[in-house]
Amino acid sequence: MKKRLILACALFTSLFSMQASAQGAPDWHTQSNYTDIISTHIQLDLKVDFKKKQMQGYIEHTLKKINSDTKILSLDTRALTILKVELLNQGKWQAGHFKLAEKDSVRGSQLNIKLSESTSKVRVHYHSNPEASGLQWLNPEQTAGKKYPFMFSQSQAIHARSWMPIQDTPAMRVTYSAKITTDKSMRPVMSANNNPKRSADGVYHFEMPQAIPPYLIAIAAGDIHHKAMSKQTAIYSEKEYLDAAAKEFEDTQAMIDVTEKMYGPYRWNQYDLLILPPSFPFGGMENPRLSFITPTVLAGDKSLVSLIAHELAHSWSGNLVTNATWRDLWLNEGFTSYVENRIMEEVFGRERALMEQALSTQGLIAELKELPEGDTILHVEIEGRDPDDAFSGVPYTKGQLFLIFLEEKFGREKFDAFVRQHFEQHAFQSLDTQSFVTFLNDNLINKYPGIVSDKEINEWIFAAQLPSYSPNPTSDAFSNVQKNIDGWMSNNKALADVPTSNWTVHEWLYFLNNLPQDISLEKMAELDKAYNLTASTNNEIAHAWLLLSIKRQYAAVNDRLQDYLITIGRRKLIVPLYQELAKRKTSREFAVKAYKIARPGYHPLAQGTVDAIFAKAEK
Ligand code: BES
Ligand code: ZN
Repeated sequence: MKKRLILACALFTSLFSMQASAQGAPDWHTQSNYTDIISTHIQLDLKVDFKKKQMQGYIEHTLKKINSDTKILSLDTRALTILKVELLNQGKWQAGHFKLAEKDSVRGSQLNIKLSESTSKVRVHYHSNPEASGLQWLNPEQTAGKKYPFMFSQSQAIHARSWMPIQDTPAMRVTYSAKITTDKSMRPVMSANNNPKRSADGVYHFEMPQAIPPYLIAIAAGDIHHKAMSKQTAIYSEKEYLDAAAKEFEDTQAMIDVTEKMYGPYRWNQYDLLILPPSFPFGGMENPRLSFITPTVLAGDKSLVSLIAHELAHSWSGNLVTNATWRDLWLNEGFTSYVENRIMEEVFGRERALMEQALSTQGLIAELKELPEGDTILHVEIEGRDPDDAFSGVPYTKGQLFLIFLEEKFGREKFDAFVRQHFEQHAFQSLDTQSFVTFLNDNLINKYPGIVSDKEINEWIFAAQLPSYSPNPTSDAFSNVQKNIDGWMSNNKALADVPTSNWTVHEWLYFLNNLPQDISLEKMAELDKAYNLTASTNNEIAHAWLLLSIKRQYAAVNDRLQDYLITIGRRKLIVPLYQELAKRKTSREFAVKAYKIARPGYHPLAQGTVDAIFAKAEK
């Protein structure tokens, strides 16, 4: 009898684990027990305390058991102060027991809450702490208006846990509602149904009725105003950015319209943009209904709006169809980079789209030479590591090139239908790489046999570097720029005869990125004199110029460089500059000085990245 029971148990366990593996390998980056029990709805009741730099209040989880034997709810936390726990047992709130486990250096501290048989909801009362990795608290001087403080969250990849006790894995989805209290002079916004009107009492209510992965729960608060752009789009920002942003991003509605034609309906109703202060560590973050955007793309000529196409594209790839774990990030970012470029082609034409492809491919090829071999794989191994440390252009541009490869092999008609089916069939689900490969084989590769082999698919997804047969996007405009570089460098052409007057920002970027790395200081000075590059107000052009200037030790840029490093906190723009500065002793000293002034204004993530650059340089 006993033996039979053990056998039955073993059968049950193996059945269960079979089911678990059919859903893919568990997410190493969470310590929550999300395969046993999930929270399906979250309610937040939080006060934004600018004085203490804390979020204070409670989170309520509505629970659904997957394994009926579950007696514990394990949540992710990092640097949170847990005050008390309450359980809803048969309609009554009762005090609960909890224990915070020892901290794991990557994942934080697991919070274990004892459940009763009948527990249907759990409330955790807590506050975050000023060092929360997922929040930045800005002083008034760091804002455009200089009068009010500002705060914002950045939860991707595993920082939601630093401001909410939560099951912090993209493998699951929740709906949420929130009551947020701030000072009357401030306005909070969330990745939810924002109300364009400000409240009189500083209390705001939000609903997100669509199930999203926890890393997409987002909040910001500050002296935030609203300006509508079209029926579905608006800008939220400090007053100072409102008009410029509404003009720069006026094509957002057109972007939504063309994407819907290609890939099916936009499912999130409203699509607004929140323009953040310049310390925002990313270009953008695809928080649903409200993308968070750096002000460094306000160039005045729409030259950098591919960022908006990118964040919008995530409304299909990423937010609708999500990576199940962070090693599957390429499913989010690769698809998004691909869709972004298709949007740019529809709205701004083929030539611009090709230029953007060529620039990012050049960037990837340079990066592939520097990265550890393992990190050049799409299905990257990140167990035991902080996903932020494995961040690179690989999931983005190698992922995009893989999809361009498929597009070219099968033709747009078949490939577009496949992508559309992917979004439809996997809507509001999380997907891992293996499940995607099965779907790809069933619906494209084996449906039209003899076009792309298994070996090629495996090489793209599971092998290092780029396949020899990778697409290599080029542009006629860039070939022309290259001819001019060659002519000027060989002194067969005067700089005055290089036809720059009609160049787009992209042609300028190609030009600067492709000048010989040993260009003479005379030629640097000649360029600067002719085009005033040191004073360029386009942040991408300034970045490319400053980077070359550091390499060539062209000291005339130093004041501008210091100012750039102090006023911008976007990692993509500052990290390569610090890396280059750290290589030589004199420039390192310059960088240390600039960083001393800049660091207090940077986001915790940017601080971490730049700290690591100096630590490595000193070794
Ligand atoms: N979702 C990303 C930002 C991100 C990725 C944050 C991984 C944390 C972990 C966002 O959509 C993004 O890709 N931003 C880019 C935009 C660019 C590629 C157009 C950025 O910030 O530079
Ligand atoms: Zn992205």
